[in-house]
Amino acid sequence: MKQTYMEPWSKEYAVKYADPRVRLVASGLLAANGHNMQPWKVRLDKTDPTVFYLYADSSRITNEVDPYARQMMITQGTFLEYVAVAGKKEGWDTEISLFPDGTYDEKNLVRSMDTLPVAKITLLKAQPQDTPLYDATFLPDTNRAVYQSEKLSSAQVSSLKSLSSQNGISIKLYQDGANLKKIGGYAMQSATIEAGVARIMDESNAIFRANEAQKNQYRYGFSVEGQGTSGLMKPILQGLLTVFPSMNTGSAASRNFINNTRTSVDNTPAYAMIVTLDNSRLTQVESGMLYSRLVLTGHTLGLVMQPLSQVLEEYPEMKTPYTEFKQLYASNGGTVQMLFRVGKPTKGTPLSMRRDVMELIVK
Ligand SMILES: Cc1cc2nc3c(=O)[nH]c(=O)nc-3n(C[C@H](O)[C@H](O)[C@H](O)COP(=O)(O)O)c2cc1C
Repeated sequence: MKQTYMEPWSKEYAVKYADPRVRLVASGLLAANGHNMQPWKVRLDKTDPTVFYLYADSSRITNEVDPYARQMMITQGTFLEYVAVAGKKEGWDTEISLFPDGTYDEKNLVRSMDTLPVAKITLLKAQPQDTPLYDATFLPDTNRAVYQSEKLSSAQVSSLKSLSSQNGISIKLYQDGANLKKIGGYAMQSATIEAGVARIMDESNAIFRANEAQKNQYRYGFSVEGQGTSGLMKPILQGLLTVFPSMNTGSAASRNFINNTRTSVDNTPAYAMIVTLDNSRLTQVESGMLYSRLVLTGHTLGLVMQPLSQVLEEYPEMKTPYTEFKQLYASNGGTVQMLFRVGKPTKGTPLSMRRDVMELIVK
């Protein structure tokens, strides 16, 4: 079966479109995003062909796991950074103005998302530049496999840490035994809690695509390759899951999730965090932009990443580890926006599904 859900990963995909804005949106679509929901909507300015607007797609919120839509906002930022990187390659400086019509009314969040753009993007003509960051946008953003035990070199650490240029947003990197143990412990504790909350597991299972037909139909959500299943095992596992969906729901899904987290934690040479002083919508979006910069720069340094978000999640069952973790790693009332593994991969990881770029464009 033709894998239409893979088409956006082709370097020829974006160039099919004459409108430079659509071409850049096709790059944004490749960014890391919470639950692979791809919650982006884009409005092209009708009168100015150099302007477009990004909106958070409120129909794609994952309410249970992300009740304050914080990951949703980070996901707006990951998109914007990919747009900026592709802009350089295409010969545009992208002027990104965040919340140009004002920030959200938290009491009417969905309505705010529907009416207020997260960003206005204006394209300014520049010299096209080949950059390794652009090439990296075509690589998988998330590697959930075993990482090599080798620590990051001091050059790698300083390259990554230097990426935060914003006041109030910092990158922390831990690779000493005590912190690896402590952070790994929180990752396990929080995954175990999450695995026991049926409504959260159901939310994830509802977007699991068991086979090629489902992946082509939906083109967002999770699939077996996200856990690193590829080659001959992929059709076998997909066939089994199609016939026996219970292999990946209920207690089986919870067990798989805990086991996968165990493997991740036991094979992680370093953890990194994006920590912010405030937790405004603007800062959340900026954190997402920084996360994309980290992922792309990581690729150029031979490093891969995987967020482990459970301990940062704001639903009631997570309250105790969430509060402890925040006190330990974001003192002075700050917020840990992203926690992620970093290391050298032991193997490549397959690309994940993406929707058609034109689905993102709204009138
Ligand atoms: C805010 C945010 C939170 C995420 N949390 C997790 C997580 O807890 N565990 C995980 O394995 N991946 C996590 N991811 C990665 C996404 O699942 C991934 O980006 C998405 O499925 C698309 O796959 P790709 O990154 O390989 O293109 C997160 C990504 C973002 C942007």
